[in-house]
Amino acid sequence: MFSKKTLFTVLPVLASTSANAWASDNHTCALTKPIYSCENTTTIVDTCCTPTQGLVLVTQFWDTYTGLESEGSVLPKDSWTIHGLWPDRCDGSYGQYCDLSRQYDPSPSPNTTTGKPDGTPVPAWEGGNIITPLLQKYGKYDLLAYMENYWKSQGSPDWTFWQHEFSKHATCFSTYDVGFEGAPDCYGSLYQNSTEASIIDFLDSVIKAQVKYPTYAWLAAEGITPSNSTGYDVKQIQDVLTNASGGEPYLGCYGPTKQILSEVWYYSHSLGRPQDGNLKPIDQTTKTNCNATQPIWYYERAQGSEY
Ligand SMILES: *[C@@H]1O[C@H](CO)[C@@H](O)[C@H](O)[C@H]1NC(C)=O
Ligand SMILES: *[C@@H]1O[C@H](CO)[C@@H](O)[C@H](O)[C@H]1NC(C)=O
Ligand SMILES: *[C@@H]1O[C@H](CO)[C@@H](O)[C@H](O)[C@H]1NC(C)=O
Ligand SMILES: *[C@@H]1O[C@H](CO)[C@@H](O)[C@H](O)[C@H]1NC(C)=O
Ligand SMILES: *[C@@H]1O[C@H](CO)[C@@H](O)[C@H](O)[C@H]1NC(C)=O
Ligand SMILES: *[C@@H]1O[C@H](CO)[C@@H](O)[C@H](O)[C@H]1NC(C)=O
Ligand SMILES: *[C@@H]1O[C@H](CO)[C@@H](O)[C@H](O)[C@H]1NC(C)=O
Repeated sequence: MFSKKTLFTVLPVLASTSANAWASDNHTCALTKPIYSCENTTTIVDTCCTPTQGLVLVTQFWDTYTGLESEGSVLPKDSWTIHGLWPDRCDGSYGQYCDLSRQYDPSPSPNTTTGKPDGTPVPAWEGGNIITPLLQKYGKYDLLAYMENYWKSQGSPDWTFWQHEFSKHATCFSTYDVGFEGAPDCYGSLYQNSTEASIIDFLDSVIKAQVKYPTYAWLAAEGITPSNSTGYDVKQIQDVLTNASGGEPYLGCYGPTKQILSEVWYYSHSLGRPQDGNLKPIDQTTKTNCNATQPIWYYERAQGSEY
């Protein structure tokens, strides 16, 4: 107990007085044997190389409109859209906004790190869109175009949602650490700006994971397509996605009787860094909330909400 406390107060001091050399050296993950996150946490020797919060969730939405159609924001035909890539703790609980030096979310939710009134406040970001200019600065136009098509917000500009996902979730993945409060800087001195490196690295990882879970195509192959006239048995959808992905996903429904399908979360363990995209499917730890006794709706998109 006592020694652990001491360690945490000493580390930031060390890191700042030695210009971060200590914290940024020697994170060559190719030299460490990759292990599956959450399967043998005692053997994580470098937190840059295996996430400590290693229950990795690949999450998607089925939205029927964006709310910003008049500004040209429409949903991709024949595809679910990206929600994010989340680092839950191995027991299924999770933290958020783990590095306030990388807080770019204009409307933090929750507004404290614990979600409770006495938690550390998460200040709203007032500097606007940083992700679009950052991707342009480094010539990542292809990544930006993909995000603009497939990573859609509802009721707010897409960049607000990207920055929310980055600051709330990516900062809790140890493999994207940049030296905050004694954490190592996984990017080292090779990069001029580790924060910028971590943002682009994370956005890239999100896409790498998402393309492996083509929910729309998996369902369509079994004859399950959006319909405003026929409901589906949630078990049928769950079984198809379990077969296709290799692990039982969480399905999220809303409405007073939980009959409107809107989300899927796929669970996995990461072999080494999530950046490398080696995710092993596992079963959900949150039970599907959709109505199990009544048909659920997998609605068609609204007219003009799809391209
Ligand atoms: C980094 O690795 C080198 C070569 O193994 C070693 O000499 C050095 O002590 C290491 N530095 C740190 C901070 O671990
Ligand atoms: C976890 O790693 C340790 C050290 O390498 C090893 O002794 C142990 O058998 C491993 N446990 C499992 C469940 O793989
Ligand atoms: C968080 O939001 C609640 C509810 O809107 C508000 O009462 C509280 O003052 C906010 N806390 C912070 C730290 O902004
Ligand atoms: C690194 O990039 C971030 C985001 O663009 C910026 O806020 C920060 O000032 C930069 N840091 C340095 C040392 O240039
Ligand atoms: C899932 O796969 C098993 C074994 O291949 C098969 O028996 C079952 O019919 C499949 N279920 C669905 C819903 O595709
Ligand atoms: C499922 O729907 C039925 C009938 O509409 C309703 O009575 C029941 O409470 C619903 N279950 C859930 C979990 O909402
Ligand atoms: C299907 O139903 C949803 C939910 O009521 C609605 O928003 C959407 O516009 C409908 N789509 C079509 C093509 O009728």
